[in-house]
Amino acid sequence: MRSGNLCPDMSELSNVIVVDHPIIRTKLSELRDYTTDHREFRDLLDEIAMLMTYEVTRDFPTRPKIVRTPMEQTTGYELARKVTLVPVLRAGLGMSDGVLAILTDARIGHLGLYRNETTLEPVPYYQKLPGDIADTEVMVIDPMLATGGSALAAITYLKKAGVTNLRFMCLVAAPEGIQALHHVHPDVPIYCAAIDRELNDKGYIMPGLGDAGDRVFGT
Ligand code: PRP
Ligand code: URA
Repeated sequence: MRSGNLCPDMSELSNVIVVDHPIIRTKLSELRDYTTDHREFRDLLDEIAMLMTYEVTRDFPTRPKIVRTPMEQTTGYELARKVTLVPVLRAGLGMSDGVLAILTDARIGHLGLYRNETTLEPVPYYQKLPGDIADTEVMVIDPMLATGGSALAAITYLKKAGVTNLRFMCLVAAPEGIQALHHVHPDVPIYCAAIDRELNDKGYIMPGLGDAGDRVFGT
């Protein structure tokens, strides 16, 4: 798995990490394909999320832990902080199982946001977070970073809840969304599988993959 490959246009933003492993690239191409139905789409989204998790968690701090093997006692490791996944509803839910396949102990917080189709502004409708979220390593997950409004609102909400160890993970990012998120939250690393060309006049990512929520849930 490679990381740290910056899209040329984004090269000044050191906290944008494109996880462009060949397996992720090929699965993402299948995901984009308009003939991929919602069952296949869900499977691919989970598989890509699982593969990306390896890279997104690369710098999670660990601490020593005594382990007794069948032979003797030795020093092993455990994650220094608990992990909380925060899928942005709805489409972020489509990545949860893939991430949980790796981070089996993670707790889940939910943030419900949808974009107003005219203004493209995020509209919050649901929030439920673990009580001790501020002490944990938080991964916000959402397949799409378009204008950046939803990610920005989610991260602002989490910071107000006291979260300091925070990263954002998506599949497809638009340059506009990266710029907007970085402008307000330059401390939050953005992990994506691809940076696409641009937004169209309706705020959709081009070439993108269409409406992620509709494709995950078959609506
Ligand atoms: C999609 C996507 C993001 C948001 C990205 O959700 O899952 O949350 O759009 O767009 P932005 O960067 O311009 O805010 P949507 O609002 O369509 O809701 P849904 O997941 O319920 O379909
Ligand atoms: N939300 C989506 O689901 N797709 C886009 O292209 C933009 C926002």
